[in-house]
Amino acid sequence: MRRVLVLSGPNLARLGSREPDVYGSATLEDLRVTCAATAAALGLSVDFRQTDDESQLIAWVHEAADAKVPIVLNPAAFTHYSYALRDALAMRTAPLVEVHISNPAAREEFRHTSVVAGVADGTIAGFGFGSYQLALRAIASMLADDG
Ligand code: DQA
Repeated sequence: MRRVLVLSGPNLARLGSREPDVYGSATLEDLRVTCAATAAALGLSVDFRQTDDESQLIAWVHEAADAKVPIVLNPAAFTHYSYALRDALAMRTAPLVEVHISNPAAREEFRHTSVVAGVADGTIAGFGFGSYQLALRAIASMLADDG
């Protein structure tokens, strides 16, 4: 079974209590369970991690590049300004899909820029946890295309 890293950035451990009108009332653990079930149905296994720490996130991206592991990434607020994360992702050696629970394009101006999008295969935003399910599907399809 091919492993996929599902990485979540800052403040996403607060899902469930964080701005539920924007992010819903389900928790990060609920998200992990959803991702694991979706991945299993696609013949993938999920390695699900969250951190509030930019250097930790970058270390995980390096680890994935070294091991050729695909990534589903919600960079959270790092999306909008972390050139260090973007540079790390530019070294990737496997598929990368950027995801967002909300639709940043429909929110405040500062969320309209993603410094990560240009180094990802694609971005899925605005579908709640469904964004992750769609991203896992996209990863499965890219892996199948690569043979
Ligand atoms: C988010 C959107 C970002 O703008 C925000 O900073 C987050 C979550 C999302 O999943 O909708 O932390 O990435």
